Amino acid sequence: SNSLPSKAPPVFEGLPFIGGIVKFASGPMKLMSDGYKQYGEVFTVPVLHKNFTFLLGPHVSGHFFKANDDEMSQKEVYEFNVPTFGKGVVFDVDHKVRAEQFKFFAEALKSAKLKVYVPHFVREAEEYFAKWGDEGEVDFAKVFSELIILTASRTLMGREVRESMFNQVADLFHDLDMGMLPISVIFPYLPIPAHWNRDRARKELAKIFSRIIQARRESNTKEDDMLQSFIESRYEKVHGGRYLSDEEITGMLIATLFAGQHTSSITSSWTGLTMIRDKAAWAAAEEEQRAVVQRRGEELSIDALNDMEVLGRNMTEALRLFPPLIMLLRAAKASFAVTTSTGKTFVIPKGHVVATSPAFAHRLPHVFRDPDSFEPERFVAPREEDKAAPFSFIGFGGGRHGCMGSNFAILQIKSIWSVLLRNFEFELVDPFPEPDFESMVVGPKPCRVRYRRRKLTL
Ligand code: HEM
Repeated sequence: SNSLPSKAPPVFEGLPFIGGIVKFASGPMKLMSDGYKQYGEVFTVPVLHKNFTFLLGPHVSGHFFKANDDEMSQKEVYEFNVPTFGKGVVFDVDHKVRAEQFKFFAEALKSAKLKVYVPHFVREAEEYFAKWGDEGEVDFAKVFSELIILTASRTLMGREVRESMFNQVADLFHDLDMGMLPISVIFPYLPIPAHWNRDRARKELAKIFSRIIQARRESNTKEDDMLQSFIESRYEKVHGGRYLSDEEITGMLIATLFAGQHTSSITSSWTGLTMIRDKAAWAAAEEEQRAVVQRRGEELSIDALNDMEVLGRNMTEALRLFPPLIMLLRAAKASFAVTTSTGKTFVIPKGHVVATSPAFAHRLPHVFRDPDSFEPERFVAPREEDKAAPFSFIGFGGGRHGCMGSNFAILQIKSIWSVLLRNFEFELVDPFPEPDFESMVVGPKPCRVRYRRRKLTL
């Protein structure tokens, strides 16, 4: 259909050889907005020996999300996680093994399992906030990361960790986390203390999980957590059909925690911060709590949570404005063509690293009207701005490697905010925070919030 010869994307000029990497490390958002202004939805940034091609917005990111792993590969760009997750899992294995391991994630996160996890989300939230006083000052970032590691240990790592070694395991995860620095993305094995601590913590976690798995096997105990699901997982077409090894189970659990911990706690924070700033959004969410209680009673069951569309849209709108994963990456193993919204076609050569950005794409005015403003109604008919083109809303990614934990995360965040809406009022003490783009998973800069206990009349 296109008779014009297609060509390689424009190359971002004026970046000296080293300048590219510095600019990249110090501010991908600035790089993308400068590139977008100058070249539009597709452009290439050379960094050292690599070419990074940005595909910004739904018109040019379809292939990124839909292509199979032989064309758009995650392994090369996410391999820096191997020392954290461990050998033999996820980005340390070939496509065939990884595909089977991803089925094990999907199995552990399917809706029948979520039904079992929901009462744990609710109980952990109720117990956590029961400890708050009548009024006080908190920072959501700290609050939700504590609460979410508690629920993660209950539903994912299991009863043993939650009940008898929570602090020890939380400390080890903290060391793993501290071992993931921006420099680790480029040099994951650099001999620095943060990496030594990471490696020591990884070994210690393997020992702990191995002991728990052994004990469950010997006593024939079955729990209803992700650990149990992995213990029972068996390869079909690879590794001779054996069960996962203890080492692989540990790696899969760590990978899950890394995918779900900061992302969920940050999204809980922004959901609250944006609702507290926008009085109408807060009032609508309160009103919905009353309506749901009338319809289904006070219990926060999975059905009650699924009914909370207003709270769900407030969360989605917070995730649109403030996605914690600001950049998604792939390695192009085959060249491919994209056509921009203005009809220009470019061919991205094989070998390029390809990047797309939820944070940038979510603020494109031709996709989301008045994109910087918090308007949960944009997701409701007749607007439905997220549906005009596929991959408009990519806070959870999409396509072949879309988030497997999105329903888990949504139910958890709704549980937390239902408990809070029913029991507290809030106000911001500090000005509404900016995102901290310096960190690997981007959350709000510190912001104090005042709470006051009150019972919502239901
Ligand atoms: C993948 C976001 C919570 C498990 C992804 C991707 C995004 C994302 C953007 C795609 C990455 C890419 O394309 O390169 C989020 C956000 C969350 C969240 C914003 C919270 C609000 C969770 C939770 C879990 C989880 C709680 C597990 C319990 C996964 C897994 C993948 C993934 C396993 C990999 C899927 C694949 O590569 O095929 N997530 N996530 N996520 N997420 Fe989440």
